[in-house]
Amino acid sequence: MYNERVMDHFTNPRNVGEIENADGVGQVGNVKCGDIMKIYLKIDDEVITDVKFKTFGCGSAIASSSMATEMILGKTVKFALNLTNQDVLQELGGLPAVKVHCSVLAEQAIKAAIYNYAQENNKVYEELEGFDPDDLEHEH
Ligand code: FES
Repeated sequence: MYNERVMDHFTNPRNVGEIENADGVGQVGNVKCGDIMKIYLKIDDEVITDVKFKTFGCGSAIASSSMATEMILGKTVKFALNLTNQDVLQELGGLPAVKVHCSVLAEQAIKAAIYNYAQENNKVYEELEGFDPDDLEHEH
């Protein structure tokens, strides 16, 4: 049911934890299952220099967050804003259809963390237009 890549990121997830004095913190929930994802970002000159995640989530949420955090580490904020759960799924080699919604948590938590960073630093990113972490619905 789960491929080797997914199992690897699930059993040995990268970037688990939290960052003290993070530049951006984002937390989102999945209304479908009640799971929660929290992402911490360290941002220096528009580059993500550190990222950690914590979750009350299932194995698929852990695997996709592990992969998503690896994909954005060392990249620009813009790159991270344009990362979709489809990109993450592709890198993971896919998830069972019923678990695809779990991968949305990572994408949304990253956006929420950047939203927090943008607010604290008076920055505007066009990718965040209309994005409000407080009214996210995850009916995927
Ligand atoms: Fe909730 Fe996967 S079942 S995130």
